[in-house]
Amino acid sequence: SLPSKVTLCDVGPRDGLQNEKQTVATEHKVALIHRLQAAGLRRLEATSFVSPKWVPQMADNAAVMSTIERRPDVAYAVLVPNAKGWEAAQATRPDEIVVFTAASEAFAQKNINCSIAESIERFAPVVAAAKAAGVKVRAALSCAVGCPYEGDIHPDQVDAVAAQLAAIGVDHLGVSDTIGVGTPRRIQAALERALKHFPLAEVSGHYHDTYGQALANVYASLELGVATFDASVGGLGGCPYAKGATGNVATEDVVFMLNGLGIETGVDLDGLVDAAAAISEVLGHPPVSRVARALLAK
Ligand code: HMG
Ligand code: MG
Repeated sequence: SLPSKVTLCDVGPRDGLQNEKQTVATEHKVALIHRLQAAGLRRLEATSFVSPKWVPQMADNAAVMSTIERRPDVAYAVLVPNAKGWEAAQATRPDEIVVFTAASEAFAQKNINCSIAESIERFAPVVAAAKAAGVKVRAALSCAVGCPYEGDIHPDQVDAVAAQLAAIGVDHLGVSDTIGVGTPRRIQAALERALKHFPLAEVSGHYHDTYGQALANVYASLELGVATFDASVGGLGGCPYAKGATGNVATEDVVFMLNGLGIETGVDLDGLVDAAAAISEVLGHPPVSRVARALLAK
């Protein structure tokens, strides 16, 4: 049977906005976060502490973190690629950090400018420091089924990198289909390898919807008992180092499906669609999600 409850992390403010060409003002990012928490999201990826030369869109990371009105029942996560990012992030008191590497060597090089092994070495002291500070550490494992540079990625590669992330003390693994090429059985194979190294409650799915497979992949994950997912309001998102990759699975599409399955999320669909509409207006393009479009047309 499927899980009765699912935890969603909205990554729209980070994964969603990092990829926008126009600069999104801090106030709009903050407003988005406020709308998402008002809609019932209890986990949010707020921003990333990466190099502003690499991703200028996230340069206001500290301002976003200090301006949002934080709710004690919401976990605010930020991306951290290295010790410098941890230092800057720590000052803003995140509840969680997300270190990120890949199951593909080529993608690690393009995205974080180092090998997988070097990324693990870099993360080890960051993980230790974060945990000593009482901050939960998640890891995102990009290209878990396919890579824009290397093509198909074998589940053994997920196994190997997941083992290394577990060994340095990472608490949680996000199995990430960066370019949305995964299909249900392949996603399950990647998750099964992740589950060798992390408990069920600490494995999540992060699926981009480039090929329209993300919702099917969420369902396939539920079949394995995985009950934690990243999703992005309005289907925003993409990675600047994965050309052509589109947004994450839309949070409202996931919520609509889970509502239909009788699976609890705590998220209010109308509030979520309002949030999608508001950020779409700022960005000047309509939400790509089917559910937002259907409900906004009513
Ligand atoms: P590098 O150039 O190798 O770093 O970049 P470096 O250590 O040689 O430093 C170069 C310069 O960057 C120095 O400045 C550093 O101070 C600065 P300079 O002396 O030239 O003025 N620097 C920093 N500044 C601010 N914050 C930092 C930081 N680190 C160094 N943390 C680095 C290496 C990792 C920094 C770079 O490659 C980078 O920032 N990459 C991030 C790329 C990124 O954000 N990608 C998108 C997020 S990942 C994603 O979307 C995937 C995910 O959604 C899952 C999925 O879908 O797959 C999570
Ligand atoms: Mg992503």
